[in-house]
Amino acid sequence: MKVTVVGAGAVGASCAEYIAIRNFASEVVILDIKEGFAEGKAMDLMQTASLLKFDTKITGVTNDYSKTANSDVCVITSGIPRKPGMTREELIGINAGIVKMVSSSLLEHSPNTIFIIVSNPMDTMAYLVHKTLGIAKNRIIGMGGALDSARFKYRLAEALGAPISDIDGMVIGGHSDKGMIPLTRLATRNSVNVTEFLSEERLEKVAADTKVGGATLTGLLGTSAWYAPGAAVSGMVHAIASDAQKMFPVSTLLEGEYDLQDISIGVPVILGKNGIEKIVKIQLTQAEKDKMQESAAAVKKTNGLLDL
Ligand code: 2OP
Repeated sequence: MKVTVVGAGAVGASCAEYIAIRNFASEVVILDIKEGFAEGKAMDLMQTASLLKFDTKITGVTNDYSKTANSDVCVITSGIPRKPGMTREELIGINAGIVKMVSSSLLEHSPNTIFIIVSNPMDTMAYLVHKTLGIAKNRIIGMGGALDSARFKYRLAEALGAPISDIDGMVIGGHSDKGMIPLTRLATRNSVNVTEFLSEERLEKVAADTKVGGATLTGLLGTSAWYAPGAAVSGMVHAIASDAQKMFPVSTLLEGEYDLQDISIGVPVILGKNGIEKIVKIQLTQAEKDKMQESAAAVKKTNGLLDL
């Protein structure tokens, strides 16, 4: 499998690193516009190969899309990250133009590729790629839910004083501080519902901390996080490479599912060799449905700022 990662910043490099470390891809190409930057990141990563025992070949290129030709999966992380105090939505002005140009250039050289969109505001950027490229919807996947769910599980484990491997849980809705919907009702510790162990107030705090997970890290780091985003992307690429038929919450174009139309937003899907193999429809409570509509309205408002 050949994977291209556009953007050699912290998130892009982390995606490349976690994909390579799992040793399932034959090749990872990192592309960046800054002269020599992707080449440098690729060389540094390649010098970890003998130490970490992977054979994935990582190369870096400066804006040369011909080197990305015939990629099976393309990950778009390009654009500016948010700074402390900024929302993901505030990035739209700059990132929309970049994502439009990058996705078109990638498709030109890899006409059958599957896209994973990481750039923010992620749901709107995934929608923009749909509108720009007009390719089958199973080939455009927004990374958000997998990351937000990992942050949810981290917060649940913390509240329970439990190992993270005991925890299961999922976040749906928009990848934004207000729009995320951590499904506390369905979260479990080793198949026992967490509502058995945690009070409603404690679960509300877990959900609130999850929703501002990215903002909390941006405040601490001065820029947006990279380890967990990279690991989430790597898990998704692995599921595609191995045709795992694994369930992930991702941003996907909805056409009536969850009572939503013409929007890309986080819902559970099955990932396999074709990208999104199917959208999983789960029964939500009325309160969760209301939150989903509210989250979708906010994403649509941001989509409205696109110059389509
Ligand atoms: C985050 O939440 C990158 O949006 C990403 O950290």
